[in-house]
Amino acid sequence: MVPVMDDLLPGMLDLARDGGETLTRQLTDQLRALITGGRLAPGQRLPSSRHLAQSLDLSRNTVSFAIEQLAAEGYLTLSAGRRPAVADGLALDRRKVSSRTSASDRVNLSPWARHLQRSIWPPIHKGRSRPFQPGLADEREFPHDLWSRCLRRAARNALSRRDRSINHPPLQHALLAHLSVHRGIKAKPQQILIVPTAQAGIALVAAALLEPGDHAWAESPGYGGAYVAFKAAGAIVSAMPLDEQGMTIGSRKDAPRVIFVTPSHQYPTGRLMPIGRRLELLRYAEAVGACIIEDDYDGEFHYEARPVAALQGLAPSPRIFYLGTFSKATYADIRLGYVVVPEAQVDIFELAQRHMGMLTSIATQDALAEFITAGAYLGHIKRMTRLYKGRRDRMLQALASEAGNRLTVEAPAGGMQLLARCRGASDDQKLAARLLEAGVVSRALSIMTYHRSDEQGLFLGFAAWNEKEIDRAARVLGRIVR
Ligand SMILES: Cc1ncc(COP(=O)(O)O)c(C=O)c1O
Repeated sequence: MVPVMDDLLPGMLDLARDGGETLTRQLTDQLRALITGGRLAPGQRLPSSRHLAQSLDLSRNTVSFAIEQLAAEGYLTLSAGRRPAVADGLALDRRKVSSRTSASDRVNLSPWARHLQRSIWPPIHKGRSRPFQPGLADEREFPHDLWSRCLRRAARNALSRRDRSINHPPLQHALLAHLSVHRGIKAKPQQILIVPTAQAGIALVAAALLEPGDHAWAESPGYGGAYVAFKAAGAIVSAMPLDEQGMTIGSRKDAPRVIFVTPSHQYPTGRLMPIGRRLELLRYAEAVGACIIEDDYDGEFHYEARPVAALQGLAPSPRIFYLGTFSKATYADIRLGYVVVPEAQVDIFELAQRHMGMLTSIATQDALAEFITAGAYLGHIKRMTRLYKGRRDRMLQALASEAGNRLTVEAPAGGMQLLARCRGASDDQKLAARLLEAGVVSRALSIMTYHRSDEQGLFLGFAAWNEKEIDRAARVLGRIVR
């Protein structure tokens, strides 16, 4: 590195005198950039502040402030009677920085991140949503004006709030009142933790319960987000095949530490786990000391008989973690979910929440508490249940008439999506890719199946599209699968 001569330094600085950024700030920033960029080498002395002020036509004070600031930040060293010197070890290694290798070559990713890179979960669709993308609520039907009034009031309440809890008590109370009546949840309000999404809840429980090498069970076909979270925690995940009643409780050599189930509407088959299998599962978990993660992701929407209550309320158990999300019952971007943890685990889980940063805005929690207590939440769910039931029926009709000879569909008793199984030999991933090219989103059953199986099918959402949109997309689907 050739030292920059005193006389050259002023020419390397370009100070604007248009009244924008202060001259001290500009001089500090530009000198810092010359040091980190290696143009001023470690040990090199700057001109004296008097000399620099003269050649830059600045006041001596401006230069002194900049130099003191850089000395305070550790970029320059000052000693009495000597000119400021550039500190050692600050220049970045320019050869490495400017090399042509890609970012992922330079950064050492963890095994978890490498696993994510290889995994095909979750299928991500950027841009606007398209029919029949699974898991979406119809956000056009959400009462946004009413919601924005709740948000405004909650923002104004900020100064009068005394409570510093991370899980907002008014929301815990309001949600518990709702869940105990509608889902049969038995808990105290403080057992409800408010997290950004149900996926965050799964990751939180997995991180807190699993050790590397532990066994975890998940449904197959099943929700990929659970597989990813368990593997991230180092667990060995067993894909448990389903029968008509849901997850089978096979005899496995290694007892699981965690069992993940979606008993209200099995993901993705939509089937309900009957009471007998629920009790069997509870007894098994109790016997081997396993925890159950009950994911009730779209448990608010039921179209047939009265919904079956959640597992969590069936029997008092210190081992059930009940998960829900508001992204289905309200709209996807609300980013609020919850975990009902066993009473004995509240403290450690709140601590884990803080350490993992799984906290959500108190203003949004407050707004949601009001939305629920004012009856708007239940009103919305009731209206959406009628609307989505109509859409489910329309979707069943449309699929029967456009693709009845190629697809078999079981009417889901609730939820926002259905599984259409392929008849005969097909490649569901190829079908899904062709549908996507034609503007229809689906999820291939085979990417959600984690045990050896020949079953092929398409997972399709119906809730977010009106009847015209459903008919149009079903015609496209019919042309492609025929
Ligand atoms: C079975 C299941 N669990 C959890 C989630 C995650 O919900 P959230 O959007 O709140 O993360 C989804 C999302 O589609 C899901 O299908």
